[in-house]
Amino acid sequence: MFNQIKEKALKEIAQTKDLKKLEQIYRRYLGRKGELTKVLRSLKDLPDKERREKGQLANQFKKEIDEAIKTKDREFSGQSGSAKGKGWIDVSAPGLRPPEGHPHPISLAQRQVEDIFQSMGFSVVEGPEIENEYYNFDALNIPKDHPARDLWDTFWLKDIDLLLRTHTSPMQARYMEKHQPPLRIIVPGRCFRHEATDASHDVQFYQTEGLMVGRDISMVHFKGIVEEFLKQFFGPEVKMRLRPGYFPFTEPSFEVDIKDKKKNWLEIMGAGMVHQNVFKEVGYPLRKWQGFAFGVGLERLAMLKYKIDDIRLFYSGDLRFLNQF
Ligand code: PHE
Repeated sequence: MFNQIKEKALKEIAQTKDLKKLEQIYRRYLGRKGELTKVLRSLKDLPDKERREKGQLANQFKKEIDEAIKTKDREFSGQSGSAKGKGWIDVSAPGLRPPEGHPHPISLAQRQVEDIFQSMGFSVVEGPEIENEYYNFDALNIPKDHPARDLWDTFWLKDIDLLLRTHTSPMQARYMEKHQPPLRIIVPGRCFRHEATDASHDVQFYQTEGLMVGRDISMVHFKGIVEEFLKQFFGPEVKMRLRPGYFPFTEPSFEVDIKDKKKNWLEIMGAGMVHQNVFKEVGYPLRKWQGFAFGVGLERLAMLKYKIDDIRLFYSGDLRFLNQF
């Protein structure tokens, strides 16, 4: 009889696959109402000699079953990744390192731009991504119905007089309204344009505006500061050139190109001397101040620096791309 119970118990133990079943087996055989316990209890009615013999045998079986259950229990708790309270922890095993993130390449570029300009005395300020028509256009000397507005393909917000800013330039007006020169700021931020996307254009992009105003700030200051910035960002061998350009809020206006590895000139920023109409609009007395402004594309900078050939990769969320930075 004992043998039968033992064989059955051992077989069940061998076949269990989890701790819960193992506990059930323990209760079924060795618990207070377990099968083996019951048999052990019934021994008390037997004659002395028989009781002693059977008692020994029963206790030995009990031990064997108990041992088998313990072994199995250790097997379960020792399994890697098992966080069950039972069993043991190998404190000498190497830990599992949680995956560590890192900044997006555009954030990396932005931080570097901020560091460089801060080292030259510029403050970093931010403005709203949802703008109104006044700051995005009117205050920047772009009157309603003027064809220059078409230079910025705009996302208008439905039913309310707001838009997604098409550039960071609105912060020129917002900042100057509240501050008197001399001033030096940069404005990093996200901009939006209603354009067809291709390898170098996306509907959203990052720009950093620069603005420096004082008594006698001239194009010479502009060229010196931008050249210094580019040298620190790309390295001392960087080549830049200024080309005439057109923006309603600067006069004269220019575009800045830099030479890439294939010796092609690439446009990275629009710039110019702040138009007196903009000063007038923010309440500065006419012809008292002068200064320069620029808007540099952060994606363009990052693409040149990290040799990325498609702007759309930045927003793809593709880890094969992002993990390279
Ligand atoms: N805001 C212009 C653009 O997005 C760039 C610019 C900024 C030009 C400042 C001149 C001065 O195209």
